[in-house]
Parts: sequence; structure tokens; C-alpha cells
Amino acid sequence: MKTVLAPSILSADFAALGDAVAKLDAADCDWIHLDVMDGTFVPPITFGAQMASALRPFSRKPFDCHLMVAHPETQVEQFASAGADRITIHVEATQHLHRALESIREHGCAAGVAINPATPVSMVFDVLDLVDLVLVMTVNPGWGGQKLIEPCLEKVRTLRARTSTHHIEVDGGINDVTAPAAVRAGADVLVAGSFAFSGEPKERLAKLRRAACAVFEV
Ligand code: DX5
Ligand code: ZN
Repeated sequence: MKTVLAPSILSADFAALGDAVAKLDAADCDWIHLDVMDGTFVPPITFGAQMASALRPFSRKPFDCHLMVAHPETQVEQFASAGADRITIHVEATQHLHRALESIREHGCAAGVAINPATPVSMVFDVLDLVDLVLVMTVNPGWGGQKLIEPCLEKVRTLRARTSTHHIEVDGGINDVTAPAAVRAGADVLVAGSFAFSGEPKERLAKLRRAACAVFEV
């Protein structure tokens, strides 16, 4: 499985998000990760579907929308219409996960399910048929620039032993130093926010790619 790089615009200049997406488009990245926060599921508020729609013309790469929102089922239609390719929702955010995940597919998007650091990985086992991606949070959601919580990688290992067909995405504290351990654990999608924007995204992502590729070279 080729490693998918999914840089997040969370750490970009919010006054110039269109430029940030265009820069990622020109860099070695596969998906563009949009961190949606509602001030309830997590304290900060970032942006919603209207922003996804405004950013859509700046890249043709898939928009990987990570909804850190309560009641995500109320947002699915809006994000699908805004041009989201993938929509990931949290186990902890809805009482009706099964129905919400079904609705993502019904709206023509790839569905993902996310778990916070304190959530057991077994919480996703019964919905694996409804998703093609599991997002394992490797920090507590809400903020960029935090340190990866190592024990979360154990959940990646457990999941990878169970499935070879799902994407396993790690999100939080991913950089050129931590990426190899995440890839070795079985992650194939790397989200990087602060690392991608702590310099020129093109150069930063090339560095992340080299670190991920090195795992497969003997
Ligand atoms: C955190 C977000 C992440 C964030 C990661 O709540 O879900 O996608 O952008 O940021 P870094 O890579 O800085 O940890
Ligand atoms: Zn995210």
C-alpha cells in the first residue's frame, strides 16, 4: 500500500486558505485534510461546509473532511454538496453511528470513522463494513502542534491485524520523526498539520514522503 499524505490546512494562514490549498495541490500530497471543529465536540471552531465549497476550486485533489462536530449526521449533506470526497465522523459524536455512516455513502462520499485517544479500538469493529477508513487520533482533537501519544499506535497495530483493505489514518503529532513508527504499526494515511506548514509545504511534504518511504527500504 502506498502511503497517502494528507496535509491539514489547520496550521495554514487562515487569512489565505485558498493559497494554502493551492500550495498543497502543487506539492507531493494525495489528499487535502480539512479539520472541521464546532466549538462543542471540541472547544475551537474552525470552519464548515461553506469554506470547503469556497476552497474546492483551488485543487482537484480529494478533500478529506474530518468532522470534529457533535451530531455529524446533520452536516453530511452539506459537505457532500460542498465537494467533499471523504467524510470522517467520530464514534464519540453521535448516538447513531451506523445510520450516519450509511448516509455518508448514500451521499456519494467515502466514509471514515474516527476514535479519540481514550476510545477503545473495538468501538469501530462493528462498522468496518460501512467505511473504507479508520482514523486513529494520535492526539486529543482540537489543536495542532501537540505531541503524538505513543500508545495510540497500538490501536493501529490491532486494526491492521484485522484488516488489510481499510485505510488506517493517523492524525496528530505526525512529522518526519514519528511517521516511520506510525507506518510500521500499519498506518497508510498520514495527516500532518503543523509539520506541513512549518516551512514551505512542498519541501516539508517531500521530507515526510522520504521518511515514510524509508520504512519500506531495507
Ligand atoms: C487535530 C486535527 C489534526 C491537526 C493535526 O484535532 O484533527 O488534523 O491538524 O495537527 P498536527 O499535525 O500539528 O498535530
Ligand atoms: Zn484531523
